[in-house]
Amino acid sequence: MAHTLLVLHGPNLNLLGQREPDIYGRQTLADIDAELAAMAALHDAQLVSFQSNHEGVLVDRVQSALADGFEFIIINPAALTHTSVALRDALAAIALPFIEVHLSNVHRREAFRRHSYFSDLAVGVVCGLGSAGYRAALEFALHYPRQ
Ligand code: DQA
Repeated sequence: MAHTLLVLHGPNLNLLGQREPDIYGRQTLADIDAELAAMAALHDAQLVSFQSNHEGVLVDRVQSALADGFEFIIINPAALTHTSVALRDALAAIALPFIEVHLSNVHRREAFRRHSYFSDLAVGVVCGLGSAGYRAALEFALHYPRQ
């Protein structure tokens, strides 16, 4: 079981609750993170959530994830999903298992959202389930065998 988990949220996810609620729902990022923290606590797992609007800051956080003792990453790269070779390369470099999460079903939206720089490296991808997708990813991660 993965006991130390890092949840990363990309650009504009700090605006959840007010940002295009028909697409992304009305829960705030703090609401989502609180639910994940409560779930992790039930399993005696350590969970840290982190959001940034800046690609390089997220790259730094991924790079330090191994040294910080994390065993698993849940990441919603947001718009960086479709653009960021740098964040992809960081995840490839540390080689920790990760799940890619999207609140919306990116395949039902604009064509440019259908390509992800992350999906082929991910253990799995969850999209279109709203905030329940993060909880599904965490449930899976909590039972993922330690590497
Ligand atoms: C998103 C989907 C992305 O296409 C978009 O740029 C986001 C959020 C989602 O959670 O549905 O910012 O990752």
